[in-house]
Amino acid sequence: MLAGLNAPHKSIPTWLLYDARGMELFEAICQTDEYYLTRTELSILRENIQEMADLIGPETLLIEYGSGTGQKTQLLLDHLKEPVAYIPIEISREALRQATKELCERYPTLPVLPVCADYTSHYELPELPFEPARRAVFFPGSTIGNFEPEEAKNFMSHIAEAVGKGGSVLVGVDLHKDAETLEKAYDDAAGITAEFELNALEHINREFDANFRRDRFEYRSFYNRELQRIEMYLVSRERQNVRVDRTEIEFAEGEHILTEYSQKFTIEGFRSFAAEAGFSVGRVWLDDRSLFSVQYLERA
Ligand SMILES: C[S@@+](CC[C@H](N)C(=O)[O-])C[C@H]1O[C@@H](n2cnc3c(N)ncnc32)[C@H](O)[C@@H]1O
Repeated sequence: MLAGLNAPHKSIPTWLLYDARGMELFEAICQTDEYYLTRTELSILRENIQEMADLIGPETLLIEYGSGTGQKTQLLLDHLKEPVAYIPIEISREALRQATKELCERYPTLPVLPVCADYTSHYELPELPFEPARRAVFFPGSTIGNFEPEEAKNFMSHIAEAVGKGGSVLVGVDLHKDAETLEKAYDDAAGITAEFELNALEHINREFDANFRRDRFEYRSFYNRELQRIEMYLVSRERQNVRVDRTEIEFAEGEHILTEYSQKFTIEGFRSFAAEAGFSVGRVWLDDRSLFSVQYLERA
């Protein structure tokens, strides 16, 4: 455990990490030596994408949560047989606009129906003028690990509803491993992850008319072995008051804001987690060091 941390009672939703600067910084994190997740997931996808696309099947409506730059999506769409439409759900308007433009240029006959929304809140999926043969969700990046366990279960159940009977999910799931590898991945030596996390304060300032000063906070993270998750915090360097809109918020020295969890799974643990939400695991692909997995789930 981190010494000197009080129990957290302040937290922010993960989407606040992703303004335009946050998106740039996230791309930079993906290039660091320590952050094995993106390059490992991409290598698994590249090696097995045809098999993945064949399992998903032809004439599918593809839905993606938190589509970001759409780099992984292109890999999948290049191999899917006659997809009928693609619905990216993404909170960052600029990322969604840019990715939609690129996809429309690359697949001129594919209807791309972007939804700019917080996928944890209420949103409407666009109606299609026909019933697709099947629905599939693409959920890479181990984003499922960002939820609290109970929220993750609810979100998987929400996905089960979205894909309906006979639907499927292709999901990236990061695996439990030694704490040193994990802790380095979320606190790179160049300090890009710290910069990414602290940048959320600037985003809050703009979004909610707040006056956070980033030099009064520092980034800290650690692997909670008991709960098998990385926990990321912004810790107040001093006693201070921060205004958010018209509300004054007090911070004690050492008090921390929870910014993100990143849950790690075992293959067996994820199987039972998926089962509770109504999915059976049809296929698991791993890299040669079993750092990361991509899993194909079918609605039971
Ligand atoms: C870590 S990036 C992953 C992007 C992509 N899925 C990948 O695997 O490369 C997370 C993306 O999800 C988006 N996002 C995070 N929380 C969201 C939310 N609650 N609703 C919609 N989009 C969200 C962010 O804006 C960002 O583009």
